[in-house]
Amino acid sequence: MLRKRSLRARIISTGSYAPEKVLTNHALEQMVETSDEWITERTGIKERRIASPEQTASDLAYEASKQALKTAGLKPKDIDLIIVATVTGDTPLPSTACVLQRKLGAKKAAAFDVNAACSGFLYALSMADSFIKSSAFKKILVVGTEVLSKFTDWKDRTTCVLFGDGAGAVIIEPTEEDRGIISTHIYSDGEFGDLLLVPAGGSSIPASEESVKKRLHYIKMKGNETFKVAVKTLENLVVDTLKKNKLKPSELSLLIPHQANLRIIQATAKRLKLPMDKVFINIDRYGNTSAASVPIALDEAVRQGRVRDGDYILMEAFGGGLTWASALVKW
Ligand code: UT7
Repeated sequence: MLRKRSLRARIISTGSYAPEKVLTNHALEQMVETSDEWITERTGIKERRIASPEQTASDLAYEASKQALKTAGLKPKDIDLIIVATVTGDTPLPSTACVLQRKLGAKKAAAFDVNAACSGFLYALSMADSFIKSSAFKKILVVGTEVLSKFTDWKDRTTCVLFGDGAGAVIIEPTEEDRGIISTHIYSDGEFGDLLLVPAGGSSIPASEESVKKRLHYIKMKGNETFKVAVKTLENLVVDTLKKNKLKPSELSLLIPHQANLRIIQATAKRLKLPMDKVFINIDRYGNTSAASVPIALDEAVRQGRVRDGDYILMEAFGGGLTWASALVKW
């Protein structure tokens, strides 16, 4: 009997894009009662990128995807499936993935969106991994894109200092080599849904004059409670992911965490006893870009030469839902 070789999904290229406009902490000091010192100490953020009024989530996704396609030497028509992770899509209907499919001219590709907030990219990567392993698709474009600035209450200092806009993309394909996505892990707990949400604009509170007046279309977050759950959950997540793969923390070359708060990232690294030079950080330049944060960080790590063939890298994220997810990759 013929033994079927086991297929793995491999990330063959990455890309990212952030809008040109930079909003610094000092500029925020002119907008709300805050200070560069408070934001830097509590979050690690120094500046973030802000989309222009015309720019949408699919526009950012388009730029990141074009870069990933170019790096892979592929044409849009080579792509079989597009998965876009976002909570700030162009419109509730159609999906941002379908808008992206049209903009790219990726005629052959099926396309759909994933909503898992900041964990969205890793959820999408996990699905893409399964599609590759089942041989359903051969070339998959996975994108995380957010225009959080358009859902930010610029009068609320507890949230407006945190978020930024951007997009990151990867292309994955099957390989029979001993490399690629080793394992993915996705989790959720809807009990904590009220910690981080946009209350209106859905079927629960449809858009109305009142919902707009009450500022219910903006992101609300119970920051401190979210922080505590995030630290505990992520510490357990990274330990479990390594344990399931019988890997020691010292065998990891790079941790690529979701960039929500530098203190959360430091706590996760400390739990693994990882030196901070094995942790990728760009929160100072982008803030929290939700589903875009991990793929932007991955793209920068690759372009900076911090990911080499054979390296084990661990990606993790935590966000609204609540959701959390990880992916272990052998590059
Ligand atoms: O990506 C998805 C998941 N998101 C996260 O994981 C984010 C989790 N949360 C956080 O990162 C942190 O909780 C924050 C950065 C949002 C807040 O930091 P904190 O250390 O938890 O501060 P806090 O909310 O307990 O607020 C401390 C104080 C409060 O004043 P009082 O009550 O002590 O007088 C706030 O009103 O800081 C005040 N404060 C601010 N002060 C200056 C809150 N926001 C600001 C601000 N500037 N922007």
